[in-house]
Amino acid sequence: MNDEANPASPLRPNFRAQPFWNPTHIPDHEVGQRIARMDLNECPYPPSPKVIEAISAAASGLNRYPDGTCPKLTDVLAQRLDVPAERICYGGGSTQLLTSIAEISVAPGEQLLSPELIWKRFSGVFDVVAAHHVSVPNREDGAIDVEPLLAAVGRNTRLLVALTPNNPTGMMLSQAELIRLSEQTPDNVLLFVDEAYFEFAVHAGGADALDVLKRRKGPWVVTRTFSKAYALAGLRLGYAICSSEEIANALRLVTSTFNLTGVAEAAVLAALDDTEYTNMILSTNAIERDRITEGLKKLGFSPMPSVTNFIGVDVGKPAAAVVQAMRQRRVRVATFGFASAGSCIRVSTGTAEDTDAFLSTLPEALASI
Ligand SMILES: Cc1ncc(COP(=O)(O)O)c(C=O)c1O
Repeated sequence: MNDEANPASPLRPNFRAQPFWNPTHIPDHEVGQRIARMDLNECPYPPSPKVIEAISAAASGLNRYPDGTCPKLTDVLAQRLDVPAERICYGGGSTQLLTSIAEISVAPGEQLLSPELIWKRFSGVFDVVAAHHVSVPNREDGAIDVEPLLAAVGRNTRLLVALTPNNPTGMMLSQAELIRLSEQTPDNVLLFVDEAYFEFAVHAGGADALDVLKRRKGPWVVTRTFSKAYALAGLRLGYAICSSEEIANALRLVTSTFNLTGVAEAAVLAALDDTEYTNMILSTNAIERDRITEGLKKLGFSPMPSVTNFIGVDVGKPAAAVVQAMRQRRVRVATFGFASAGSCIRVSTGTAEDTDAFLSTLPEALASI
């Protein structure tokens, strides 16, 4: 007997028989090898020395539970972003917040809307809430298509998800597209914009979604992270800026009180202070992104116009096979994560040496398939 009312599994239907894939796993044969790690959109450089100092100083307090409201950091962010402190909350990486945002807004069976081509982790988020997920095709060039997304909003829609810049394309929404989303998403729908790559977008002259959403009448949330431009992926700290304290409190309830590490706040305060180091990360990233883009063009490909620390490109061979062939040659890249994006790969920027390894290995890897 295995029906909904009396299942053999103790799990809710949407959690049964879920596969698990660990993207950070290093197999034994790669341990100690020089690998160009260009698959996870990480910063190739260690955190600023000032951050490491701040972590060492804060480490002696690790016997205590952290204050998950990060009061000092919240003051700094509230001032910089011109948002009331009570509307800022935190997650163990912004990944945690993505799921929490869906959990607080969409009940099983209610509708959530997103572009089709987005970061593959979102499919896990949609599974968790067991919502009726409607995905709207991206434009031919891979960009998020705002008009059909708005047109798909229905009476049962609770959450609309957008990303700028988007992963895996690296492309961003224009100011005009953000205004349209902000103004046309109905007031009973939570508009969620993931800005994990915000600092890269601004460095490339792009729009600031938060500035636009602040003028929205209906509810909204913007998420950002310290994992990318601040070189702190291993620290796990992301934040949400919400249109109301009620939304922030709902997120605090779901993420729980002790979801952050005790050194995170001190580390991030030091990172925000060291603007010289962040600028170094952003400008070296732009240099390597241009080198990869130009190198791909010389090889005859048409890379997507990325503003981030990764580049999407159609290499004309099945992406999973390309990833495997590259990995055998010690260069890690990623697929787009969707079968429909068949021959597109995503390559993260790394050091200059990583760029050389990627560009010199790709033709050989493709020829081997
Ligand atoms: C679009 C997007 N959002 C959120 C994240 C999550 O970042 P973190 O959990 O490290 O803050 C990532 C990570 O790659 C991402 O690509």
